[in-house]
Amino acid sequence: MKKYYTFNDVFLIPQFSDCESRSLLDTSSKIGSISLDVPIISANMDTITGPKMAVSMSASGACGALHRFNTVSQAVREYVTVRESGADCFVSVGVNDGDLQRARALYSAGARNFIVDIAHGHSTMMRHTLSTLRNTFGHDDFYIVAGNVATPEAVRDLATWGADCIKVGIGGGSCCSTRVITGHGVPMFSCLLECAEEADKAGVKIIADGGIRSSGDIVKSLAAGADYVMVGSLLAGTLETPGEVIETTSGKVKVFRGMASTSAMIDRNNRNKTDMPVGEGVKTVVPARGSSVVIVNDLQSGLRSGMSYMNAHNISEIPLVARWGVQTSSGAFEGTPHILQGDS
Ligand code: XMP
Repeated sequence: MKKYYTFNDVFLIPQFSDCESRSLLDTSSKIGSISLDVPIISANMDTITGPKMAVSMSASGACGALHRFNTVSQAVREYVTVRESGADCFVSVGVNDGDLQRARALYSAGARNFIVDIAHGHSTMMRHTLSTLRNTFGHDDFYIVAGNVATPEAVRDLATWGADCIKVGIGGGSCCSTRVITGHGVPMFSCLLECAEEADKAGVKIIADGGIRSSGDIVKSLAAGADYVMVGSLLAGTLETPGEVIETTSGKVKVFRGMASTSAMIDRNNRNKTDMPVGEGVKTVVPARGSSVVIVNDLQSGLRSGMSYMNAHNISEIPLVARWGVQTSSGAFEGTPHILQGDS
């Protein structure tokens, strides 16, 4: 039986650095037709990315992924709003029959960067959807991210079926209960390492999705071979997330929920709790806070600092120069703030 590690189980080893100024380190890249100043994508969740977040992410040099939990006409309106502001973003579709109509409508509105989004992406439905999208829209200016998956076999299959980029991560997200409910999922660091190796062979990119709590986790994701990261909870509660600010006795909050939570399923299917499958996500509220622009800036700054410790001058050098080790739980504890309280 193999042992699989997640972000907290590993550490990156500092190396001789010739970096004289962190601001010179290049965090730019490209995904589909979208140029990025920092390889961060906001999660396609209905409490994270609507048009406001997509515009704000673009202004910060990152990118938004509009969620798909609305009607086709709402999805088109939201995409057009983003484009009218001068930004571009990803749009999401599912794997059901109606999703070809959604894709056609978004394509007609100008969208060329798509995410095919399903909880278990290594499946017949994904194969069918990827082949339908490729047959309908071709390859030339139609970019497809597909996911989520958590194995190298899945990466190879989705690449063969037509994906340009694969979203990797099952059950590691902050609001996920997939591992609790189903027992399935793979700890992120090892998962990314294995999937990135297969992605390189297949000539596709990967997005690390789920469980990223800090810029350090972003550096570790890229060190393991991810090309981009997708973040949800890091942006939850910010000004630009969809949803109202709720006044409570303990302050202002906003809702954050898993897209497979019972709450999200009830809303999108208009059904009762009694005839629903069990939820694989949770719903919570988080403190309302300031702009996502500040958060993305801090994440980019932390990423640059991480690059200086490993002597990577640009994003593609990160996995080539990274060296890591596996740590004990005492090492993980030592690596977080742990101020001693005492008399003297
Ligand atoms: P973070 O940790 O950044 O993770 O908040 C965001 C990612 O979590 C995934 N997601 C879910 N996974 N049940 C799951 O098992 C859910 O209800 C759910 N909702 C979102 C998704 O990949 C997202 O980008």
